[in-house]
Amino acid sequence: MSKVSLTGIKPTGDVHIGNYFGAIKPALRLAETYEARYFIADYHALNTVKNRDELVQNIRSVAASWLAAGLDPNRVIFYRQSSIPETFELSTILMCFTAKGLMNRAHAYKAAVQANLEKGEDPDAGINMGLYTYPVLMAADILLFDTHVVPVGKDQVQHVEMAQDIAQALNYNYKKDLLVIPQALIQEEVAVVPGLDGRKMSKSYNNTIPLFVPEKQLRKLIMRIVTNSQTVEEPKDPDKCQIFALYKLFATAEEQAQLAQRYRAGGMGWGEAKEALFQVMNRELTPIRERYEAYMANPAELDRILAEGAEKARAIARQTIQRLRRAIGIEW
Ligand code: TRP
Repeated sequence: MSKVSLTGIKPTGDVHIGNYFGAIKPALRLAETYEARYFIADYHALNTVKNRDELVQNIRSVAASWLAAGLDPNRVIFYRQSSIPETFELSTILMCFTAKGLMNRAHAYKAAVQANLEKGEDPDAGINMGLYTYPVLMAADILLFDTHVVPVGKDQVQHVEMAQDIAQALNYNYKKDLLVIPQALIQEEVAVVPGLDGRKMSKSYNNTIPLFVPEKQLRKLIMRIVTNSQTVEEPKDPDKCQIFALYKLFATAEEQAQLAQRYRAGGMGWGEAKEALFQVMNRELTPIRERYEAYMANPAELDRILAEGAEKARAIARQTIQRLRRAIGIEW
């Protein structure tokens, strides 16, 4: 187990069960096959979150969420980007090997320019250098830890490719493999998690079930899942039902088979199916919710865990930076 995986987590706050099954659980499984590292990209968040209290809250909440979901800080390294000053030194080095034209082609920057043009504004209106150089900072996050694989969604693949380009430019210049070339590990959709309205669960559709809702609210949300107008007596098809699709994520194989039979036999109304879903969902989410609340009630413990992780991460980061400083002629 000598290959390194690195997961970057933007602190955006409210985690929902779509994130839990689509991103958090698969990312945590990487610890079984890689030397896994996880960090909170808090300086990346400064691009969009410019309210102090909101940023503090987001950082704590996302740390508590991952710990509650099962991240084991004794087995993996878990830290905040801002605790690793070497990241910002590496970012400065990488800037000198990054073509401006490469940044011009970044999807996020291009989309912002396009939006300005469509509004008839100056192409760079409201675009700061943090957004423009975002891919360089992300490359620094990755390259600093000799990362082999980076689990990402499709929207982040271009950023990993840019990290490859930048690392190759530096290696080529010094004719040495100074930086490990990282690979994107595209997370396949383990399971499409349907939202309350049957479309994919997503914040932009406003159809999410937050991971940490209190029990009462969880039941209310489940009762709001949209269903068709089949009567109680009619037999129902479990494979065409979003209640059942959600049930499968939380129930044992035996429970799934039993409920599927209830569907097909007829005589079961949607209310009963929703109640069955609530039971299995609440069973899995209750301990996670309790751990989350315990961490949120004890920020000093959160800070301690992250500070310990930062120390382990810095020991690695210092070596990379020293290797680079010597190679480029800043240190001898
Ligand atoms: N850009 C990523 C996102 O928006 C977060 C991130 C920052 C990241 N640095 C990273 C992800 C390094 C992987 C590796 O989700």
